[in-house]
Amino acid sequence: MSRAEGKTPIQELSDEHVVIMDGLEMVRAAMSVVEQTKRQTPARTWETLQQAVASLAREFDKHLLKEEEALFPAVEAHLGAEGGPTEVMRMEHEDLREGMWELRRLVGESEAPEGVYEQLGETTEALGNLLVEHTHTEHHIFFPMAEALLTDAERTEMAQKFRRIEEEQEGRRSG
Ligand SMILES: [Fe+2]
Ligand SMILES: [Fe+2]
Repeated sequence: MSRAEGKTPIQELSDEHVVIMDGLEMVRAAMSVVEQTKRQTPARTWETLQQAVASLAREFDKHLLKEEEALFPAVEAHLGAEGGPTEVMRMEHEDLREGMWELRRLVGESEAPEGVYEQLGETTEALGNLLVEHTHTEHHIFFPMAEALLTDAERTEMAQKFRRIEEEQEGRRSG
């Protein structure tokens, strides 16, 4: 899912939004199985949820880094950083990260803690809402604006940074 032949870097980011939303659905599905077994969640059911959260977190971290380290600086070269559109996007990323950290924290225990389901439900819903809003803004406003602004040289540089970020992430995972 990482090599993106024939796509602009921004199309690649758009495609990742779909992957992230799918990842969130996997978390929701795993959560509802945990809810059904609330009192005595089997270890495997809890592990499935942990894996779904870990997989979402990986896609999420990679995507946010690509935007923050490659896309936003390229846009900032045209529009400036302070008071510009990337300032809002960066702030929204911080809120998204907080939600993701909370989700990771909640599934961090080796077995399902009593009453965790309610907290998981709230956290996932809040994170989901933020994600929908943020990706909607990117799709309809920020990405089209960036496509119009960026030069070919900037796109090439972005694509190179993307590959570097992916390699670093894969290295961290296997190393
Ligand atoms: Fe973003
Ligand atoms: Fe995004």
